[in-house]
Amino acid sequence: MDSQKLEEFKLHIENLICQQYQRIEKMKQEKDFIDYSKIDKIVIGIAGGDGIGPAITAHAEKVLRILLAEEEQEGRVCYKIINGLTLENRIKANKAIPDDVLAELKKCHVILKGPTTTPRAGDKCNIESANVAMRKELDLFANVRPVKVPQEDIDWIFYRENTEGAYALGSKGYHFDDDLCIDFTVATKEGSERIIRAAFDYAKKTGKNKVSVITKANVIKTTDGKFLEIAKQVSKDYPDVEWDDWYVDILAAKLIDKKRRTQFKVIVLPNLYGDIITDEAAEFQGGVGTAGSANIGKRYAMFEAIHGSAPRMVEEGRVKYADPCSILRAVVMMLEHIGYQDKALLLQHALDICMIYEKKEAITGREDGCTSDEFVEYLLNTLKDNNMQKKYESFVSK
Ligand code: IPM
Ligand code: MG
Repeated sequence: MDSQKLEEFKLHIENLICQQYQRIEKMKQEKDFIDYSKIDKIVIGIAGGDGIGPAITAHAEKVLRILLAEEEQEGRVCYKIINGLTLENRIKANKAIPDDVLAELKKCHVILKGPTTTPRAGDKCNIESANVAMRKELDLFANVRPVKVPQEDIDWIFYRENTEGAYALGSKGYHFDDDLCIDFTVATKEGSERIIRAAFDYAKKTGKNKVSVITKANVIKTTDGKFLEIAKQVSKDYPDVEWDDWYVDILAAKLIDKKRRTQFKVIVLPNLYGDIITDEAAEFQGGVGTAGSANIGKRYAMFEAIHGSAPRMVEEGRVKYADPCSILRAVVMMLEHIGYQDKALLLQHALDICMIYEKKEAITGREDGCTSDEFVEYLLNTLKDNNMQKKYESFVSK
């Protein structure tokens, strides 16, 4: 073993631990969630991202602006277009989020973000994913991902921890030598408690009254063990909310089990398991192209599709067939988050009609499906239809 490397490693760990304690301090100071009803003008940032991102984000922005036209006119909401969140700029600045872009993001209350391309290990530029960086910089600790398949009685909502776990130091692992590499996983009391509480609060508020806590605490004993231990503590504050715990491997299996899967309601899980399981879950609903995602913190919130920037679609000239539904579902979550529940429900029902029930136009991502333009027109016509609500109810009651 190289003793100089070992010394370097010790220093590296010391730095990481100091940074984590600084983060814990910050978490402790930030107690209350922002109250949007007290804000005169809500600033909505729009960042298109890479690949199919700018195109699908433009569609979502169009729908959002139509739904909030009155509020925009009355000056209750305004938009900030943020163009610089591109892979090109990130490589140029050699930063996951260039400073000027981060400053712009911080001027917003909420952000609608298109997918951004994530450099892979071994790519020439070794920068962190813009997603992961944004979640950390804006402390967006709750990644909320609903998945619904009404015909199958599936109604899940995932509360994925978003700033810790394997992601906290995902770009700060240590490459000792050709024989040994080490990565780190982080769980803090503060960080675990706030996500678990968010899940229990949601279960209580919505009357779902059931939380499943997911770990692999039989193997990852320290950090997952902590997560589970904190869940036990937190659950005591919610006597009316039933809860259980599952290991992530068997959860992955049970989501496929038709008899068992409907018992899951609110599911809270550490970062990496949340990443994997929510892609699996979205598949039941029609794929990652159909699922929206909210990244919520106490001060900021960011809403996005759960999928990536699909560079292959760009290479193959298929951008105009890209599915905007995932980011439109994110718009539903944004509207709900900033206090426009009625408009959120309106858009949700229109999307349900167009994506699940009526399906007059189908997006396939290819020529055999409709274009995103055609789909958005169908959606807007559905929204405008005075009988939409009746139509929706008749579908649901069937
Ligand atoms: C997601 C994505 C991201 C993640 C990637 C793009 C870094 O897969 O939002 O689920 O792993 O969190
Ligand atoms: Mg993912």
